Amino acid sequence: MKKLAIFGSGAGSNAENICDYFNKSSDIKVVMMCTNRKNAFIIERAKKLNIPMVIISKTELENFDDLAKILEKYKVDYIILAGFLLKIPSKMLEKYQNKIINIHPSLLPKYGGKGMYGKNIYKAVLENKEVESGISIHFVNQNYDEGEIIFQESFILSPDESLNSLTTKVHELEQSLFPKIIEKTLFSL
Ligand code: GAR
Repeated sequence: MKKLAIFGSGAGSNAENICDYFNKSSDIKVVMMCTNRKNAFIIERAKKLNIPMVIISKTELENFDDLAKILEKYKVDYIILAGFLLKIPSKMLEKYQNKIINIHPSLLPKYGGKGMYGKNIYKAVLENKEVESGISIHFVNQNYDEGEIIFQESFILSPDESLNSLTTKVHELEQSLFPKIIEKTLFSL
């Protein structure tokens, strides 16, 4: 049984979708969630799903020692970043080498890096009149959004694409593909 922790800072729609997907799996289980924002909606989702939620500060993440103990307590094998907006410290990267996976709502390396998340990305994609956009799933390294790409899926923007329609398209792709790519990746490692 491979055990996952999901880290998120926002609404938690991907976190809930991943939990639902692996709910009946005997191979993969979400054992805990973690957030750095005490008002994030992901906390409500964890409560509803009955999954332990850990709230950490930026300093606790950077120190890592206490968080490492929590991850050990839950016997976490892999960490999934689903809208987690803090940088992963090097101590954590060393301990979970190639075991931290992030989803990003653009075709990296385009629209990656610090400050590039959620609506900021969609606005930039529209302003630059991109012909296509999509999602990227990648291993996490010491730089924002620069780790090895595991998977990308693209789509063509429509001529009247709006912020809302682009957000919806990306979210639909994320919901249908992220859990499947996690599953495939974990079994190919
Ligand atoms: C997702 O669209 C994810 O790709 C994005 O945040 C959203 C989280 O939504 N991640 C980034 O922008 C990372 N730079 P959720 O909390 O509803 O899953």
